[in-house]
Amino acid sequence: MDSGDVLLDISGVSRSFGDVRALDDVSIQIRENEFFALLGPSGCGKTTLLRVIAGFEQPDSGTVTLDGVDLLPIPPEKRAVNLMFQSYALFPHMTVERNVGYGLACERLPRDEISSRVDEVLTTVGLTDKRNALPKTLSGGQRQRVALARAIVKRPRLLLLDEPLSALDRKIRGEMQMELKRLQHEVGITFVVVTHDQDEAMSLADRVAVMDRGVVRQLDTPLDLYRRPRSIFVADFIGNSTILRGRFDQGTWIGDSAPGLSVPDTCRDAIALALRPEALTIVPTDDPRARVRGEIVEVFFQGDHALAQLRADGTVYLAVLRDDVLPRRGDPRGLAWDESAPIPLFEE
Ligand SMILES: Nc1ncnc2c1ncn2[C@@H]1O[C@H](COP(=O)(O)OP(=O)(O)OP(=O)(O)O)[C@@H](O)[C@H]1O
Ligand SMILES: [Mg+2]
Repeated sequence: MDSGDVLLDISGVSRSFGDVRALDDVSIQIRENEFFALLGPSGCGKTTLLRVIAGFEQPDSGTVTLDGVDLLPIPPEKRAVNLMFQSYALFPHMTVERNVGYGLACERLPRDEISSRVDEVLTTVGLTDKRNALPKTLSGGQRQRVALARAIVKRPRLLLLDEPLSALDRKIRGEMQMELKRLQHEVGITFVVVTHDQDEAMSLADRVAVMDRGVVRQLDTPLDLYRRPRSIFVADFIGNSTILRGRFDQGTWIGDSAPGLSVPDTCRDAIALALRPEALTIVPTDDPRARVRGEIVEVFFQGDHALAQLRADGTVYLAVLRDDVLPRRGDPRGLAWDESAPIPLFEE
């Protein structure tokens, strides 16, 4: 990456709590105006990393720079960084309007500027009619939107959002995701969003760092994470897939499942193969294209499509169903896929 593009440069950052290595040699470069997501299971170190960037936590080792300037000696309130906490705390005795404007009031901005900026963000988050309400009269989702408004209104260079949409129900969440993306585009602030929801990370972010026990396992665009996961962990965490463990031997895959499967040379150093459901086609057992044969275990409706599980040689495959006539549990079927479909995985 061209170093001129880099806004935030995290290099070799580690942080332990007793025996727990919450961050283990993390290096991430975030570009100006990027929408960046940190994705990973609970406890993998996402919040700790945001706290280091915001200044609420000092790393044991490593460096963090913003615009080339060392952030670590700078206290949190002096950094051009704003963190919206996972458990955001609104002031209970203040109205929505005053909660949102609080940070600006602390900076002693003129009253009409505060009021116009608060108006603007309340419109953005759809809460103009709640401006005079107290937090206790709001729903969880509304409170979350107030917290978001409060974080945006200060127009930081870098906005860190820790699970910003987790309290919202599915529909509002979807709307807020689009809002966030629009907002980020409009205000020109660099966003780092933490989530353990892969769909959210994939639909929002320009790039995603997938974390696991303090380590960045892969950093890529959503498309590349989906199409070219490098590890079993990432292939499993992002989307659905069937994992075939084994090894490559002269164009053939040697493993417990799909015996004698021919695979391309790109699978030479792989420790496993991943098959995405949409790359698999269910065919009659006597179809010559069938690479494995077995029986249907279960069929799942997903609304716009259906998925079927098929068990063959002890492995359960997940495939998208394309036919109108759905197979039933126990029906014998084969599975076909293009030779190029298996994704080689090189790490656990
Ligand atoms: N102040 C602390 N003292 C001791 N252990 C801590 C502290 N902060 C974090 N940890 C530990 O560090 C690890 C990473 O925690 P962190 O809060 O960063 O995870 P997370 O990825 O944000 O998880 P979640 O998705 O559940 O919010 C966890 O094992 C956690 O228990
Ligand atoms: Mg967290």
